[in-house]
Amino acid sequence: MLLKARIEMAMQQALTGRPLHRGPPKLAAALDYALFPGGARIRPTICMSVALACGDDKPRLTDAASVALEMIHCASLVHDDLPCFDDADTRRRKPSLHRAFSEPLAVLSGDSLIVMAFDVLAHIASQDPDRGIPLLLTLAKRTGVPYGICSGQAWETEEKIDLSAYHRAKTGALFIAATQMGAIASGQDSEPWIELGARIGEAFQVADDLHDALQDEETLGKPAGQDDLHGRPNAVAEFGVEGAIKRLTDILGGAISSIPSCPGEAQLAQVVRAYAEKLTPVFSSEPVNSTRNVLASFEDKVIYGPDD
Ligand code: IPE
Ligand code: IPE
Ligand code: MG
Ligand code: MG
Repeated sequence: MLLKARIEMAMQQALTGRPLHRGPPKLAAALDYALFPGGARIRPTICMSVALACGDDKPRLTDAASVALEMIHCASLVHDDLPCFDDADTRRRKPSLHRAFSEPLAVLSGDSLIVMAFDVLAHIASQDPDRGIPLLLTLAKRTGVPYGICSGQAWETEEKIDLSAYHRAKTGALFIAATQMGAIASGQDSEPWIELGARIGEAFQVADDLHDALQDEETLGKPAGQDDLHGRPNAVAEFGVEGAIKRLTDILGGAISSIPSCPGEAQLAQVVRAYAEKLTPVFSSEPVNSTRNVLASFEDKVIYGPDD
């Protein structure tokens, strides 16, 4: 089965397996809205790819880890779009959740998804504690404080922000969780997988900053120019367009060699190489000195999905 189909099936089952109809109908509808249709599903794709490279001997664990990661990610987007954060009206080519439903339902949907993610893993942990408990602890570490998304978003309230620490926590954390949880689900030591997740995660946010600075809402399916508008530290403001692209290339340059030794190492290297290629703008023969120049190179690359 293609990873994309496997992810969607696991996500659907995780939601439909719950008696949500017994609760408030609007909240049930908002949860569905937050999860489906998804975006690129890149975090579960990475988690599953690592698990497969390590043998994937307990696919139910891999599925649960992937679903939990994506639920946390979707929760983070719902909260990130709220007026008290980025105040974004659109997400994934449709109105952001608080616009489609309401602010209270957006807060509660995000909260519910976070709880649901840990509930999914808690069920696994009760059946397979040796792998399930490390899965729970890893996701908790990369979601909360001081190393997770909560810290990442909280850096925005500080006067002095270190861009790298900010990116690592707000975005890198879930990519680190993705590689580590893929390894744990397959019974492997997760420590050696941190660097790969950190590299992909940081590169991902640098690419997102470039998209935010250089593209429009129609192309992105979410508001553009947000980092500048909200005065967020970002790779383009710190390094310039060319500098940000160089940083992206440098970070991804070390990604392949950071893949730990595992049975599916060669195939995983191919996946990472293809993904790195999608994230990186192609340099034209002209120096990258204008927005239009980089835009042209990004054009085909904005939407990157698991099986593209
Ligand atoms: C958006 O993540 C938030 C960032 C960390 C930049 P994605 O681009 O993975 O969002 P979806 O899930 O594909 O919509
Ligand atoms: C989002 O960063 C990070 C999250 C934890 C959601 P951004 O604010 O840059 O993500 P987008 O651009 O809204 O998707
Ligand atoms: Mg945002
Ligand atoms: Mg952004």
